[in-house]
Amino acid sequence: MPVEIVILAAGEGTRMRSDLPKVLQPLAGRPLLEHVVDAAEAAGCDAIHVVYGFGGDQVQAALGGRDLHWAHQAEQLGTGHAVAQALPGIQDDNIVVVAYGDVPLIEPETLRRLAGSAAPDALAVLTATFDNPSGYGRILRDGAGRVTGIVEQKDASAEQLAIEEVNTGLVAAPAGRLRDWLGRIGNDNAQGEYYLTDIVALAVADGVEVFGETAGSVAEVAGINDRAQLATAEARLRERRAAELMHQGATLADPARIDIRGPVSSGRDVFLDVGVVLEGRVEIGDRVRVGPYCVIRDSILEADTVVLPHSLIENSHAGPGCSIGPFARLRPGTRLAARAKVGNFVEIKNTELGEGSKANHLSYVGDTTVGRDVNIGAGTITCNYDGANKHRTVIGDRAFIGSGVELVAPVEVGDDATVGAGSTLAKDAPSGELTVARARQKTITGWKRPEKKKR
Ligand code: UD1
Ligand code: CA
Repeated sequence: MPVEIVILAAGEGTRMRSDLPKVLQPLAGRPLLEHVVDAAEAAGCDAIHVVYGFGGDQVQAALGGRDLHWAHQAEQLGTGHAVAQALPGIQDDNIVVVAYGDVPLIEPETLRRLAGSAAPDALAVLTATFDNPSGYGRILRDGAGRVTGIVEQKDASAEQLAIEEVNTGLVAAPAGRLRDWLGRIGNDNAQGEYYLTDIVALAVADGVEVFGETAGSVAEVAGINDRAQLATAEARLRERRAAELMHQGATLADPARIDIRGPVSSGRDVFLDVGVVLEGRVEIGDRVRVGPYCVIRDSILEADTVVLPHSLIENSHAGPGCSIGPFARLRPGTRLAARAKVGNFVEIKNTELGEGSKANHLSYVGDTTVGRDVNIGAGTITCNYDGANKHRTVIGDRAFIGSGVELVAPVEVGDDATVGAGSTLAKDAPSGELTVARARQKTITGWKRPEKKKR
């Protein structure tokens, strides 16, 4: 039976005090809503509908690349009204799961379970037991434990307020049933809204079975209304991701002091020190060691590579056994072959560094192809930009570039060439020869230092 999910994302989220719609607030570097969309995809939903309203253009633009059906809710008249906006076009027999754009840690397995208990013709509501249920709708059950209704906090009696089992807001039912119930609910309540929750009483009256499924954890159903709850969710997600990395074979110096904002994979016997931030898609090979306070984004580090403290690595690929840092910056398009070394205060961009080649100190190497076993001396700079265009530098195998060399691109240094320290190369340096491009040193013998005049 096809399962379609409807994600409610029309609210403003006033408590965030932000210009950004609530569902676009970043969690682990990505919009809240995207986490829910990912869970829906992982659960195998056949179609994903998003009900949008507040900040609609921004929301649609942010999720532009995803395969989503958009339903517009012009006025926020309540959760029941919101779901109704997505129902046209969904076939009666299909199971509809309702999820929330501001409940981002929902697990795919829970969505599947909810859909399963709604099929073929029942209503499933996801419940949880909270120590402090304040603010949530309470689950009403009869003597036999069957769910009979949900009462909102603002409409509840003192006795009902003491109930700790709450409505997480997530429900599932056949689309035909939802359509019928939502056509019958009113807005005669404390908030003057069409409550989705009112369908429970209608289901009970219609003799449709209501299943109360319990959530896997309190964390997965936690809604995010303010920045404190956002920080709590971030910490929970970090815990989850850190646990995954440890499971794959990484030792974390402190699982509470690592940030993982994207799909990260780790090999065996990896060590990640404190303050490491991993963003986007990052692949870490066996025995890689990353020192404190490194940021690694959308990059691959092959086996045995070492990253020393305070390095920033973006859209780069380091082959096996490389050494990077401390204080190195690898900008997009950097490819290090096996055993390459990039030392302190070296910036590399759009450059291939061949096997065993080194740039150990204080250099800028941009738009360059470097062969194998090359030594780039301290303070060497590729002058790759003439103010209008970028040009390439090519350095052959086993070349030796002395310290403080300026390579004015386009320029080529041949295999086994040596370039004298302090040279400014504006022409190619031929293979196997020493090229020096600096003023000759001379000594003026007998020269005297000026002396201070006596008054
Ligand atoms: C809702 C439930 C409550 C449950 C709680 C769990 C109802 C009536 N109440 O309350 O039982 O305990 O969630 O978090 O369903 N939204 C729209 N359009 C609207 C109204 C809301 O898209 O017209 C979206 C919001 O953006 C939000 C979600 O639906 O993502 C929940 O709405 P909200 O007003 O926060 O409901 P709660 O009062 O939290
Ligand atoms: Ca809410």
